[in-house]
Amino acid sequence: MALWDGRFEGGPAEAMLRFSESLGVDLQMFNEDIDGSIAHATMLAEVGLLTAAEAETLRAGLEQVREELRSGAYKPEIALEDVHMAVEARLTAIVGDVGGKLHTARSRNDQVATDVRLWLKNRLGELDQALVELLKALLDRVEQDGRTLMPGYTHLQRGQPIWLGHHLLAYAWMIRRDRQRLHDALDRVDWSPLGACAMAGTPHPIDREMTAELLGFSGPIPNAMDAVAARDHQQEVASFCAILMTHLSRMAEELVLWSGREFNLVRIGEGWTTGSSIMPQKRNPDAAELVRGKAGRVYGDLTALLTMVKGLPLAYNRDLQEDREALFDAVNTTLACVQVCAGMWSSLTVNRERFTAELRGDFLLATELADHLVGQGVPFREAHRVAGQLVKACEARGENLSALTLADLRAVDPRFGDDALSWLEPEGAVERRTSQGGTAWSQVEAQVEALRDELDERDL
Ligand code: ARG
Repeated sequence: MALWDGRFEGGPAEAMLRFSESLGVDLQMFNEDIDGSIAHATMLAEVGLLTAAEAETLRAGLEQVREELRSGAYKPEIALEDVHMAVEARLTAIVGDVGGKLHTARSRNDQVATDVRLWLKNRLGELDQALVELLKALLDRVEQDGRTLMPGYTHLQRGQPIWLGHHLLAYAWMIRRDRQRLHDALDRVDWSPLGACAMAGTPHPIDREMTAELLGFSGPIPNAMDAVAARDHQQEVASFCAILMTHLSRMAEELVLWSGREFNLVRIGEGWTTGSSIMPQKRNPDAAELVRGKAGRVYGDLTALLTMVKGLPLAYNRDLQEDREALFDAVNTTLACVQVCAGMWSSLTVNRERFTAELRGDFLLATELADHLVGQGVPFREAHRVAGQLVKACEARGENLSALTLADLRAVDPRFGDDALSWLEPEGAVERRTSQGGTAWSQVEAQVEALRDELDERDL
């Protein structure tokens, strides 16, 4: 027997029940459903639609249902369709007829919209905290190993020497912006649909401000139809997750690359790697690979949420029940990936000397020769050509820039100064880049400090 069967002769087909129930995914938000019901019952009593004693009975009953669902003592059957009816049916079994009063001035349409928003508020709070932990792990790594010399790349070709810290901070700023996006999305999640009822409101004297406040929302959603039909806040959350996953996937890809033998810059802690069933020597970066792979899954969730709503007439349509599979998956997957990335960064061992010898005289110092000439008053375009000619000459001889003498330099351009060769020291090249946001250690330190200072802030 369904709670809506008054106008029906028989029940739904067995196959229909299995097809339409959403209990599996809904049960993730049974706490939120019960919180919403308790706030609603409290409000109904305040405005005189229930007696104080009835409201108390409902509250106590709802707490019992919560406990039974938590412990697993109550396992709702799929005939109950969704979490809302599962809670109400059990409540009524516990408290009797008064259970039937709870649904006064309420519909499952505003109920489900409320539950999902509450779930998002809770879960996004956890995600924000996980992002803070990831930022801390990155900043700790910068402080610990940041002065490791490495090539900075463009086109995956060696560009200019940098400190590892400079590279890691690029990720830290991306993650910081992800936090901003999360907070932005949360601002639009944080409004209460409760009391919108099916989509037209109710003739009963309800107080939507009160339920919004009891549930910790910023306020009620002004339009009842919008309250039950809108899913843009979910799309926004999934977009934030998708963008964040692009950042994690880039990070993960670099960890895969850097931990390989060819790069040999880092070693991921054993706890985040796995072995091979055939090749005994293997120690594979599976955690990073999975993060990279799961990015695709979250993009799929976003696409599902966008297409689910595309062209959908107002207000509620059953299509909208599909929202949670994608939304919860996007948020849960992203949260797990953020936690795994924080764990990997913390577990890392950096091979700090990896590039020290290799970068001496490497062609990635060619810009230094050009910049030196600029200091001598040579226009940059001209200086660039001179440095290019020197690279070409060295390459032809099978040597790198450390083979050059001052005489070689001056043979190509007499304007090279006495200290020209000292510009070919990789660390010097890094430390000269003191422009704001440059790779010099002073700039790295300033950014670490700026990022640490705001870790606890809500408004970024
Ligand atoms: N289980 C439904 C959902 O998840 C709840 C709302 C049902 N409303 C309705 N009119 N059938 O969307």
